[in-house]
Amino acid sequence: MALDKMEDLSLTVTRAETDEVEGITLAKPICSIWDQVWNFKAKPDDLLVATYAKAGTTWTQEIVDMIQNNGDIEKCRRASTYTRHPFIEWYIPKSSPQSYSGLELAEAMPSPRILKTHLPVQLLPPSFWEQNCKIIYMARNAKDNLVSYYHFHRMNKALPDPGSWENFLEKFMAGKVLWGSWYDHVKGWWKAKDKHNILYLFYEDMKENPKHEIQKIVKFMKKDIEEEVLNQIIHYTTFDIMKDNPMANYTKDFVGIMDHSISPFMRKGVVGDWKNHFTVAQNEKFNEDYKKKMADTSLVFRTEL
Ligand code: A3P
Repeated sequence: MALDKMEDLSLTVTRAETDEVEGITLAKPICSIWDQVWNFKAKPDDLLVATYAKAGTTWTQEIVDMIQNNGDIEKCRRASTYTRHPFIEWYIPKSSPQSYSGLELAEAMPSPRILKTHLPVQLLPPSFWEQNCKIIYMARNAKDNLVSYYHFHRMNKALPDPGSWENFLEKFMAGKVLWGSWYDHVKGWWKAKDKHNILYLFYEDMKENPKHEIQKIVKFMKKDIEEEVLNQIIHYTTFDIMKDNPMANYTKDFVGIMDHSISPFMRKGVVGDWKNHFTVAQNEKFNEDYKKKMADTSLVFRTEL
């Protein structure tokens, strides 16, 4: 798209409106096609990457794609993440220059498909369970997840205006953000992993020992890869390499909607950036509330990091 058109577009884009499905806040267009999302037809060989937004979805997608393609970086750069792996519920109507239908993209895609969702477990289309699809869930500690989500709202005009940091922090704690409560999301998927074909991973573990975590994914996908390929995958999915990969860093998607000069999509990619955002008082309040909300689960995050 010509630069002058991009600038025009950024001026005309208005912040997303929201609505709810079963008490979960979603972008309004998704709610308008909810029946179709719910009736999505998963296939037995689909692999679904499920996350709360900003937990490391793109990173997981890149790893899975590289495993699927036996470490062939050129194949993995065939298209942007957004196109390679349909984001099943995401919908921007055709009237928009940025139109997108995860459902249509998925339907047109040959198998085996790698799909993406941010839906909480109770809103996952039932066909994924019926087909016993492989699901990889990546979770990230609440504070870093929140910080990343805040900056993403600042730079992405397809999302509601986050308001001030203080404001967004409150909304996050109340679960009144897109895709609902982080607490319920991570707990819900954690519970589901005992009954379904789910590999539950943590961003912090992947950061600390990518080899170990990627090997878990390889095993889960029932693939056999050589050591050299594994090392290649580790290398090409590091933050620094992905940050420079236009097929993974979202600079080619959402042009005029995502403003990387406000905050790049590939922002920091670290554990513990929350320490640069929370005041002492905010941290105390958050911790107290966190304890209550996470009291009814066996799920434990490495919050000491
Ligand atoms: P930060 O904003 O903390 O930097 P998602 O893909 O779910 O939208 O998550 C985006 C977050 O994952 C961003 O976090 C981004 O920088 C981080 N990320 C993306 N690729 C990564 C990688 N290869 N290694 C570590 N973090 C990565």
